[in-house]
Amino acid sequence: MKHLLSLEDWSADEMAEAIATARTIKAHPERYENCMRRRTLCMIFEKPSLRTRLSFETGATQMGGHAIYYDTSTSPLGSGKESIGDTVQTMCRYVDIIMARLFKHEDLLEMAKYATVPLINALTNFSHPGQILADLQTVEEHKGRLEGLKVAYFGDAFNNVTHSLLFGCPKMGMPITVACPEGAEYEPDPKVLAAAQAAAERTGVEVRVVHDAAEAARGADVLYTDSWMSYHIPKDQAAARIKVFTPFQVTTQLLALAAPGAVFLNCLPAIRGMEQTAEVIDGPQSVVFDEAENRMHMHKALMYLLLDAAGRLAK
Ligand code: CP
Repeated sequence: MKHLLSLEDWSADEMAEAIATARTIKAHPERYENCMRRRTLCMIFEKPSLRTRLSFETGATQMGGHAIYYDTSTSPLGSGKESIGDTVQTMCRYVDIIMARLFKHEDLLEMAKYATVPLINALTNFSHPGQILADLQTVEEHKGRLEGLKVAYFGDAFNNVTHSLLFGCPKMGMPITVACPEGAEYEPDPKVLAAAQAAAERTGVEVRVVHDAAEAARGADVLYTDSWMSYHIPKDQAAARIKVFTPFQVTTQLLALAAPGAVFLNCLPAIRGMEQTAEVIDGPQSVVFDEAENRMHMHKALMYLLLDAAGRLAK
């Protein structure tokens, strides 16, 4: 069964196919309006969401399918009364495809052991692959290509978005520089970095981690940042994290160092005055709402491709 658990598992061709399919679905949604007829998506959520929930649910509706929002806090799974294995085996007797937003990536891997329908990672503590595919679609829309574009990421790098960027960008021939504070709790997972560097050697691009935001910004085509307070970070850490991440805030001064026509991305939710200033996120180089919109086109593409691979598309 083909799943999307991490971009580590997907080849450049598979990523390019997802991006091309999302592009076609965005341009011609009517061609796909029945491909999920009588098909059901189960959406498992352990954490909050605006974009992921609405884009998957709307995407399923637009393709003629039905989506079930399954909140684990009111379920036997969440109360600890039912195991992951029993839950997933039961679900797979009802539904055609599952997406899951979970605290622990290990729980997603456990789900995948039992899933007899496609399973999509809709964010774990470790990775956020669908987000990065939608981000790459957005970059391609605005820049006309991906290969050779320089990506710079700023801020909290021990997080799912950075890891998925590191898995995805080098495979697509995009050099990436991560600018973050020093320390294991702020830097990318060393295993992810090693995988990114191995992919980068194959495509002939560079992967760097630096501790100076200006160094990363110079000549970048894509500037990306994410929340300093990811969903799993305790609120009492906010003051300390603001102090450590402030040198990596994306500002107009930082943007001025980038390549002409550089674009600014944030997967959202964003806080103005934290990971970026209001001038940057509300400015002409920001593409954050195209990025948010593309979550829906990409999720439709992922459901289409994975249902097709599983032989479960509506005829
Ligand atoms: N970027 C993202 O995953 O947004 P939500 O948390 O709102 O789903």
